[in-house]
Amino acid sequence: MSIRPILIHPDPRLKKVAAPVVDISDELRALSDDMLATMYAAPGIGLAGPQLGIGQRIIVLDCVKSEDEEPNPMVMINPKVIEESDELNVYEEGCLSIPEMYAEVTRPKEVKVSWLGLDGEEHTQDFDGLWATCVQHEIDHLDGVLFIDYLKPLKRQLITRKMVKLKRERAREAS
Ligand code: NI
Repeated sequence: MSIRPILIHPDPRLKKVAAPVVDISDELRALSDDMLATMYAAPGIGLAGPQLGIGQRIIVLDCVKSEDEEPNPMVMINPKVIEESDELNVYEEGCLSIPEMYAEVTRPKEVKVSWLGLDGEEHTQDFDGLWATCVQHEIDHLDGVLFIDYLKPLKRQLITRKMVKLKRERAREAS
């Protein structure tokens, strides 16, 4: 299991539509372990394949925030929102590919999601609250959509400029 580098916006690999997974291979299992390790280390509550430069439809999440609760790591392959509530919810979202930037995003409050598990079985589950926001945010990544795409252009450009600067600084530090 290893922690992999997370791509930082702007990066063309974050804007691509990811391809469906056709085979649950050992390589995919290893990838999902790495994704969970990378997410927990960040720390974050969700991570999608494209954020590691992997153009495949796989996400991991664990929205258990309390130290007193058992962790609940989930791996979803080819996840799809199949139902969403009319009722909306506003959450202040962030993203491991857009470090330290947060903004309110409005999304359906509840969603029903179906996905293929590492067990090869089709799963369907309802999500609410932070889990619903997180799973929608991660599925968006598979379609090349970032949470800043929901913001007004000016705000989005401001955040993007900050990220360009951050990447330049990081590149300088690394060289
Ligand atoms: Ni994200």
